[in-house]
Amino acid sequence: MNAVLIGMMGSGKSTVGRILARELQRPFVDTDTLVELKSGQLIRQIFAAEGEAGFRRLEAEAVAEVMAGENQIIATGGGAVLRPENRQALRRGALVFWLDAEPAELYRRAMHQGAAARPLLQGPDPLATLRNLRAERALAYAQTAHVMICAGGRSPEELAEEIRLRLLAHEGDTGECRTSK
Ligand code: S3P
Repeated sequence: MNAVLIGMMGSGKSTVGRILARELQRPFVDTDTLVELKSGQLIRQIFAAEGEAGFRRLEAEAVAEVMAGENQIIATGGGAVLRPENRQALRRGALVFWLDAEPAELYRRAMHQGAAARPLLQGPDPLATLRNLRAERALAYAQTAHVMICAGGRSPEELAEEIRLRLLAHEGDTGECRTSK
């Protein structure tokens, strides 16, 4: 089964997803990276040339493409849940985890990871932008997710472990209580 990580910029989707994929020895796919590979442009270049609408079209194609696969760990861009067809494809084809944290923590992490790569944080008050986007998107995240994970104050390794256990339990294999034949 696919595992999908959704949530705001700075929630740790890509970092946690990479650790999880390594632990489970499953392929890791980041829809932002897929968009960049397919278009041959960086996200900020796509926003500059085609605006957010152009980026969302490419993102929807990337979501549809990745959801055709199986047994992957998938990190999505923070706004991937905005389109209903994405929400449907993600929820139908995966166990979906929503990583959430307080705006102040999202801000710290997003700034640390490099705000320059994130066109939506280029305004004068990125903290307010994150707070507003999180409030606007909360319903879409909640509608898409099967499991909500509170990411605040926890390390990526801890979060990956919680998700790993929940995913394996869902797949019906906890790795425990197995009787050898
Ligand atoms: C976006 C989040 C970014 C990227 C793009 C738009 C958003 O991904 O898709 O800059 O709308 O929240 P991350 O969440 O991986 O930073």
